[in-house]
Parts: sequence; C-alpha cells; structure tokens
Amino acid sequence: MANDLAAISVDDLTEPDATAELTRLAAEMADHDQRYHQDDAPVISDAAYDALKARNAAIEAHFPALIRGDSPSRKVGAAPSSGFTKVQHSVPMLSLGNVFDEADVADFYARVRRFLGLGEDEQVDVIAEPKIDGLGFSARYESGRFVVGATRGDGQVGEDITANLKTIQGMPDMLMGPAKDVPKVIEVRGEVFMTKANFQALNTAQEEKEAKVFANPRNAAAGSLRQLDPEITKSRPLTLFAYAWGEAEPLDWDSQQDYIDRLKAWGFSTNPLTRVCTSVEDVLTAYTEIGEQRASLPYDIDGVVYKVNRLDWQQRLGFVSRAPRWATAHKFPAEQAQTVLEKIDIQVGRTGSLTPVARLTPVNVGGVVVSNATLHNEDEIARKDIREGDTVIIQRAGDVIPQVVQVLTDKRPKGSKAYAYPSTCPICDSLAVREEGEAVRRCTGGLICPAQAVERLKHFVSRNTFDIEGLGAKNIEGFFEDGTIKNPVDIFTLEKRNANPDNLTPLKSREGWGKTSAENLFTAINEKRTIGLDRFLFALGIRQIGQATARLLAQAYGSLPALSEALSTAQDRESDAYADLLNIESIGAAVAEDLLGFFAEAHNQDVLDGLARELNIEDFDAPDTDSSPIAGKTVVFTGTLETMSRSEAKAGAQALGAKVAGSVSAKTDLVVAGPGAGSKLKKAEEFGVEVKTEQEYLVFVGKA
Ligand code: IVH
Repeated sequence: MANDLAAISVDDLTEPDATAELTRLAAEMADHDQRYHQDDAPVISDAAYDALKARNAAIEAHFPALIRGDSPSRKVGAAPSSGFTKVQHSVPMLSLGNVFDEADVADFYARVRRFLGLGEDEQVDVIAEPKIDGLGFSARYESGRFVVGATRGDGQVGEDITANLKTIQGMPDMLMGPAKDVPKVIEVRGEVFMTKANFQALNTAQEEKEAKVFANPRNAAAGSLRQLDPEITKSRPLTLFAYAWGEAEPLDWDSQQDYIDRLKAWGFSTNPLTRVCTSVEDVLTAYTEIGEQRASLPYDIDGVVYKVNRLDWQQRLGFVSRAPRWATAHKFPAEQAQTVLEKIDIQVGRTGSLTPVARLTPVNVGGVVVSNATLHNEDEIARKDIREGDTVIIQRAGDVIPQVVQVLTDKRPKGSKAYAYPSTCPICDSLAVREEGEAVRRCTGGLICPAQAVERLKHFVSRNTFDIEGLGAKNIEGFFEDGTIKNPVDIFTLEKRNANPDNLTPLKSREGWGKTSAENLFTAINEKRTIGLDRFLFALGIRQIGQATARLLAQAYGSLPALSEALSTAQDRESDAYADLLNIESIGAAVAEDLLGFFAEAHNQDVLDGLARELNIEDFDAPDTDSSPIAGKTVVFTGTLETMSRSEAKAGAQALGAKVAGSVSAKTDLVVAGPGAGSKLKKAEEFGVEVKTEQEYLVFVGKA
C-alpha cells in the first residue's frame, strides 16, 4: 500500500494516508541517515534525499496534528555513533535553509530587509562562498591552544575527534599571531574534505588492499575522520576550510569578512572563491560563476552559501528553528540526461540480497559517461513501473550511483511488459524470499550459492565457529576458486579426496603446499570434527542466527536431529512446533522465517546431511558454571571490543552463567570497557563498579 501512497500528491492525501506516509518517510529517512552518517555509504543522491525531506515537510504543513515525535524535520544530521566520546556543543551547530532558484534568492533578500526594517535602497552585503561537500567540524581553542574537536553529530552533541583533527595538516595546534589577537576562547568551525585526486588515489590503494572502497570524496573524508584509531586518519589525505565560529570570547569582529581575515591570520585556510556581493544580481552572478568552475575545482562542492556580512545584522536576524535567518544554501541542481534502459540485471550480494541494476545505453551526464544506474529494490521498480526498453531520465548527483528518476511512458515501445522480479536466485536458482516488512529479497541458497559461498565458508572456519587453523580467508578463497572446496562438506572430505589415487592434483603437489603442510592441514581439520550444537548452528551462517540465538536454539532443542525434526514440522505455520519456535526468547517471526527458509531449502539439507556424516555434533550441554568467575554476576560491555563482537561477548558471558545488561547501575558487578567507552564507564566509576579492559576480562574468565 505504502508504495501507491508515495505516488499520491500531498493535496490528495487523506488523514490516514498521511499518517502512513509520515511513518514510511520517517523510517526510510532514518535508514538513509544511518547509511549516510554512520556507515558512510549512502544509496541515494542528496537530491533524492531532499525530495523525501520536502515531501515530509509538505505533509506536515498540511497535517500539523500528525507530526511525529521522531519526525525527520526535527532532526539535524544524525546522532553521534557509539564508538566516540560525546561532546556537547556549547553553541549548537545548525544547518542551513535552502533556496532553489532566483525567486527564492530574491525572497531571502526581501526577508532579511523586512526583518531588519531596511529600505529598498539600503545596501545589504552578502558573502557568497562554495558549499563544500565534506564534513562539518568544530575545533575549540582556549588561549590559542587547540583543546577539543568534534563532529557536528545531531547539532547538539557531536563525537570527540580531537586526536583525529590534530593529524590534519592545516589544523593549527596553536593559533598564530600576537597574543592580543588571539581570543580567550574560540570555536573555529568549517569543513573537512578530501580532494577528488586524493579520493581517487585512496580508492585505488584500498582496492589493491582489498579494503573498503568509498562511494565519493565526502564518504571517504567521513570514513577517514571518524576512525577510532587516529593513525588511520593521519594516513589519509584530508584538507579543511574554516568559515564559521561557535563560542567566541571576545567576539570582536564586525563582519563575516572580518572573521575570515582573522581565520587566515590564525593560520587556517579559507576558501579563495569567497566574495562579498552587494545585490541580488551580484549574488546570482557569484552562483553562476562558482557553478561554472564546479567541475574543474579540485574538490566537490554542492552549492553556494550566502551569509549576511554584517555581524550586528546577523545577531538581530538570529535563528528560526534550526537554521540561521541570516544565511542560506543555494544548491546546484542534479545533472540529468535521457537514455534507454536496455536491461535490468539482478546482482546477488555476499549476504544473498538481490539488487536490481539498470543497464543503460551509455550517455554523458555532466561530463561523466554513465552506463549503469541503481534501481534500489523491487518496490521502486514496481512503483515507477520501470520496464526493459523504456526511455528514462537518469540523474547523477555528487558521486553517488546514478539513479532513474523518471520513465518517459509516451516513448515506451509497443508490447512492453511490466518487469517481473525474479523469485529465484539468478546465480544458484534457489528460492529468493522477501520477508514481511523488508525491502530486500534474499537468496536462500546460503551454503551453495556461489555469490555467498566464499563469505559463508570464511565464517564457517573462523574463530568463533569451527576455528580451523591453517584454513584462513586466503586459503578458503584459493580453494573456492579452483573448486577444491565449494561448500562446508568439502572441507571434511578434503583428506579422503586427496588420498584417492585418481586425484591428479593432490594438495601436496600444488604450489605453496608440500607433504607436511598438507598433512598439518588435514590434522587441523580432523581435530575439529567434534563440535557443540550451538557452535555448529552459528557456523551455518544463517541470516539473523548469531551466536546468542544459536545458543538459545541449541538449548531449546538439544540435538541436531531433534532440531531438524522440529523445524520440519514447524514449516507448517499452524503447527505447535511453529508456536514453540516463536516461544524461544529472541526468536520472532522474522528470525523464524530465516531459519525455516534455510532448513526448507533442499541444497542446504544436502549440506546438513553431508556434515552430519562427517562430524560428531554434540548435543547441547548446559555449561558448567561452577568454575566460572562471573556466574550469577551482572556484566556490562561498553566501548569498542577488539577480539569479539558485542553479541559474541554477550553469548560468551551468558555461557559462563553471567547476566549481560545494557546499562550500568548499582547492581552491575563488572564493566568491560573497550576504547571509546563513554558515559557507561563514567557511571561505573560513580557506582564504584569494577572495570576491566577486554584483555583483562578474557584472562579473568580464562578465555585469553
Ligand atoms: S555555514 C550557521 N558555510 O553545510 C551556519 N556551511 O547545511 C553554519 N557547509 O553542516 C553553516 N560549506 O557542514 C557553511 N561554506 C559553508 C559550508 C557549510 C559546507 C556545510 C556545513 C553544514 C551544512 C549546512
């Protein structure tokens, strides 16, 4: 239903529709916020995001009574992520309103004049400067010394990135200039960014290292700045421009231009394209001229920012909700072009997600040749009724993947058919299912799907699963490529297959292998033929079945045959077996679907049968907590853990009889704190709760 609603114009929405639309927009924008701010990996362009924001605002304007508590219109940016200590901004870091065309610019000017009560003939100087597509920062200097630096976060609270900012060339440790010109307190604000050339070079290097490649310079800058290890930030080529201030004592400049001159004197770089404009016409000329230089600038900009130059006027104009009345942003339009969508391809990701990609007749969009565009997901194709052979308008904004914005239905070839989204995996032919409330369809062929198999195999042999020594990620990749190990069963038949006299390429005769290393590997594999049921279930890499859930399942069913039988009965969603499954703590309908889907897939059953033949899967045994130092204790994990994920830490502690809590109270017995631990650590100190580092904890519980 929500898909149809998205196409209805705001004026035509009924109240229940509007409620549903606001709910959808809040969820969708929260998802994009997470991808953009926390994961540094957006999937839609800024323009598409702005369109969602605009629709949300329009609906709220029509139905003010329906405004949600968590409405995107109430948020500025994203809440800080958890790994960093938080910094409360003494003066909030606000965002900017937008103007979209000449009339809006004239309106902005008129509003300023009206508010200040200025006559038509009174000159209002406005500073125009490029809007840098980077990451806002705030750097606090006390008596000229850099003391604390932060990201914008949600505008009120940011992340403490002092150590990271210090590594950036162009971020002075001490403000330059005679003591009389250095304020007691000044928070210098600006933008950290990466040049286009440095971004390309970084991505090439990342590719060589098989490390994460960034979508665009902004994400590269964000990913580089928000590193828990400042050494990584230091190795990344970041640059900055300063342009604003937060707290300032004394605040003794008269205009924006004056302040920019101060910034330069203190040792900051400021944008050389910044200029003072004296009229609306002048501002528009600045916009056009900066826009003309956009493609050839060494860094990405996404618009021009206008700021009333006089400080006394800025102070009188003040703020409205979360943006200044004295400044606004004039964004550049996204670049569009018309082309033909030749074909829709379905790609399968490492987690089994099916993603549609549009193959286009190559077309030049603002200087870049585009031949692929993202279609996001199934619903998007249905909602826009995108078909193979359609003539479409595509759009490129920044460096995010181009998108299809519109189908020109009048150019649609005769006899064209609506696109039928596949219900099987194009790679392995297993069923591809889409769970309720999920946008993505996923392949259920987990263990046998080549698109997923390598990652699954790596997981299968990793530390918290089978933990097979000598069978690391590199070996798994090599064996998968040459066909030696295609699924988990192959690991345990490796020795047998090698011993077969018909085998022309036994391991010991291969490059990099000898008799001893081959035998060592067989021994390492044989040592792991016995495994606990919980560990075994986790090793299967079933979606949503992490360590903790695997343990609960093992506990509930006891043995693999019992579990298999129960799940086979539970395929009937009316059965008691299904009800029993849902009764297990932390197993909801969505998790149950993933689990049942996995067990229902014949390919997976083959693998399970094969493994059952090769392995001794031990029935679940309640842990011996007698010797556990944390049995019956309440433990809290906080900060970044280095050797285990949060859920592993939790499952491990529970296995030792501990209760794991999410927050610290007087009842907490132990806090395990990794780097970046913040308020929980402080609370532990307040309550006098024992605190251990991750390493100390592992030694304490005998797992080091
Ligand atoms: S001035 C109170 N100037 O744009 C006004 N912001 O939408 C503070 N940005 O998060 C902002 N270039 O990080 C200003 N030349 C510029 C800018 C700029 C980029 C970013 C800034 C802020 C966002 C506002």
